[in-house]
Amino acid sequence: MVRVFAPATSANLNVGFDSLGVALAPLDGPAIGDVLTVEEAVKDRLEVTGSYAHELSGTNIVEKALWRFRELTGNTTPVAMHLEKGMPIGSGIGSSAASVVAAVVAINRYFGSPLDLDAAKALMAELEGELSGGVHWDNLLPCLLGGLCLHDAKLPVPENWVWLLAYPGIRLETKAMRAILPKEIALGQAVAQASNLGRFVDALYRGEGRMAAKLMVDNVVEPCRAPLVPGFLALKDKLMAQGALSSGLSGSGPTLFAIFDNLAAAQKALADAQRWVAPHNGFAHLCRVDD
Ligand code: HSE
Repeated sequence: MVRVFAPATSANLNVGFDSLGVALAPLDGPAIGDVLTVEEAVKDRLEVTGSYAHELSGTNIVEKALWRFRELTGNTTPVAMHLEKGMPIGSGIGSSAASVVAAVVAINRYFGSPLDLDAAKALMAELEGELSGGVHWDNLLPCLLGGLCLHDAKLPVPENWVWLLAYPGIRLETKAMRAILPKEIALGQAVAQASNLGRFVDALYRGEGRMAAKLMVDNVVEPCRAPLVPGFLALKDKLMAQGALSSGLSGSGPTLFAIFDNLAAAQKALADAQRWVAPHNGFAHLCRVDD
């Protein structure tokens, strides 16, 4: 039997649209993520359980992963799969990427890894692209590799950073949230984003956490998406005034992320976030990087 856990991830992080993401785990309480087990069976079977199983409908991406794995490898051996869906879909914390990573890693490992890492990654990108309306790696790669990743390069993270994730309990489909983005941006905006991302990486390598966080800004994507998340901007402004180093939409939203280097400020922010997420039964957690 093979069992694979795939963690929640926060993508974009303001400064790295479609290229930067981080795997996160709550400081207290159980990990957030999906678990896939694969075992021997006489006939293919998929069972889906977990807190968010009810949100899934139609053919599961895990089944599609198995079909595509078979097309790629010629394997026809039946398996019993069990997906424990531990993440809400359309939440902005990499729910689809977690299912895709758990599925491809577990199925491939169960059969002795006939797909090498590049082939496995290509299959993950294909499945994620189908679900979200465009291939983007910023959830997949941190989910697969752990840590803070700029594409597949792992970046150093200041040890004193505490991350807040606040999911307000409403659903926003990534496909729709990508469709509202501009197809082109002004040269000046592109230059500013590229410069900020480069300086962000440099600041992390120099151990300048506050400088790195100051560079985590997004004047392109967030202004298009923020109006679709009630109360997001008000909470973000409040957290920034209370000492957050950076805050923004996690992935395509509606989850808000914020970063602190002061635990007391983070705990105060958690209380504010819990009030924001309560009306629609969302959740808020202080997290650490899952490496
Ligand atoms: N980079 C992707 C987007 C992440 O913002 O559309 C989706 O979670």
